[in-house]
Amino acid sequence: MSLRITVIGTGYLGATHAAAMAELGFEVLGLDVVKEKVELLSAGRVPMYEPGLEELLRKHVAGVEGSSGRLRFTTDWDEVADFGDVHFVCVNTPQKHGEYGCDMSYVDAAIDTLAPRLDRPCLVVGKSTVPVGSAARLARRLAELAPAGAQAELAWNPEFLREGFAVEDTLRPDRIVVGVASERAEKVLREVYAAPLDSGTPFVVADYPTAELVKTAANAFLATKISFINAMAEICEAAGGDVVKLAEAIGYDDRIGKKFLRAGVGFGGGCLPKDIRAFMARAGELGADQALTFLREVDSINMRRRAHMVELAREACGETFLGRRIAVLGAAFKPDSDDVRDSPALNVAGQIHLQGGQVTVYDPKGMENARRVFPTLSYAASAEDALRGADIVLHLTEWPEFRALDPGRLAQVVSRPHLIDGRNTLDPVPWRAAGWTFRAMGRPAA
Ligand code: UDX
Repeated sequence: MSLRITVIGTGYLGATHAAAMAELGFEVLGLDVVKEKVELLSAGRVPMYEPGLEELLRKHVAGVEGSSGRLRFTTDWDEVADFGDVHFVCVNTPQKHGEYGCDMSYVDAAIDTLAPRLDRPCLVVGKSTVPVGSAARLARRLAELAPAGAQAELAWNPEFLREGFAVEDTLRPDRIVVGVASERAEKVLREVYAAPLDSGTPFVVADYPTAELVKTAANAFLATKISFINAMAEICEAAGGDVVKLAEAIGYDDRIGKKFLRAGVGFGGGCLPKDIRAFMARAGELGADQALTFLREVDSINMRRRAHMVELAREACGETFLGRRIAVLGAAFKPDSDDVRDSPALNVAGQIHLQGGQVTVYDPKGMENARRVFPTLSYAASAEDALRGADIVLHLTEWPEFRALDPGRLAQVVSRPHLIDGRNTLDPVPWRAAGWTFRAMGRPAA
């Protein structure tokens, strides 16, 4: 009989994983402690913006007309323990308040709540991003608490999905990494992932610490790549060079590669910033802090980008934001997402507001979340509305719709046609041709 799967925690990671498991043909039960989320998901609705996810959910969630009915959601832990052969733990591990380390309380609570209910053979699979050493600790906890004893086993299976591509990344991952303590666990995971494995997805079998580290190492590398190109942007600005050309040219070397070399206001979101900090904190605990001191620099280069954008904007406003109207295009930390966690765009908007500027923000999907975090900013219903009467326009999240804006038309709407591209994705030529003063981070002024 086919394995029955549960997914604990239904955020970006869990909701997508649950729907993807149903797509692969499994019976799936998702659990969340937030009743409203469970109700929403059960009705075939996704509590965040993620392209393709709602369609996939509706394709499988029981009760939606025409669905496979293989996917259900609950708040009941007994039901989950009873249902699952494989339990995926997908809860959040945010940064601790006022500390670099990551907050393991949701993962710990999930194991502590589930384990005492596990009275038959099963595999508990952690997917959350955790400090190295957590899996070994949680495996001991599971062994202590589960009535099934050694029959309830732990594995670690980090997830590399990107927001905005969550469905694609989950259904067609570029690799599957598992940290296991037994052949049995590996066998179960090969069964779960039989479809992607059949289509050639690399399967890396490792021990617990290596599997945990793969995730943090990958994110540390990506963050480093972005901060590297942003450091080059600083040099380009000082020397009169063009970082976009530079990135293109070094990117032709396939040892370097073109991806993740887009200079601008830097990285944000719920993963990269907190993951590099948690990684540093953990290295410190392990007595290996020297190995990761470079990540401190990666972090400060990144944070400097936001301050630099504020400076560029202030300069363009005549050295003061007082009495100036600033239009901010973008609030989400990246396009195709409504996630504003640690968003560079909102951070810049907030800083300018605090310095006395009148900031109006527009984002295609992130407005509701942005309003919750920064209720004191103004929000416009469209890019054009945000730009009306603006002294300066800041392009801070690279939504495709901003590339389609008409510079000529918008020049008539603003008070002063002055734009700063904080993402290096707008083409300066048409903007300048339409009379705009166009600046971009790390590129020559004209
Ligand atoms: C990241 C990892 O990519 C993913 O593998 C992991 O599972 C979770 O963390 P995500 O947070 O969705 O995914 O965003 P990502 O696409 O990595 O972008 C992160 C940030 O870097 C965004 O703010 C983005 O705008 C910025 N970025 C990205 C750049 O500034 N320049 C680039 O060249 C690429």
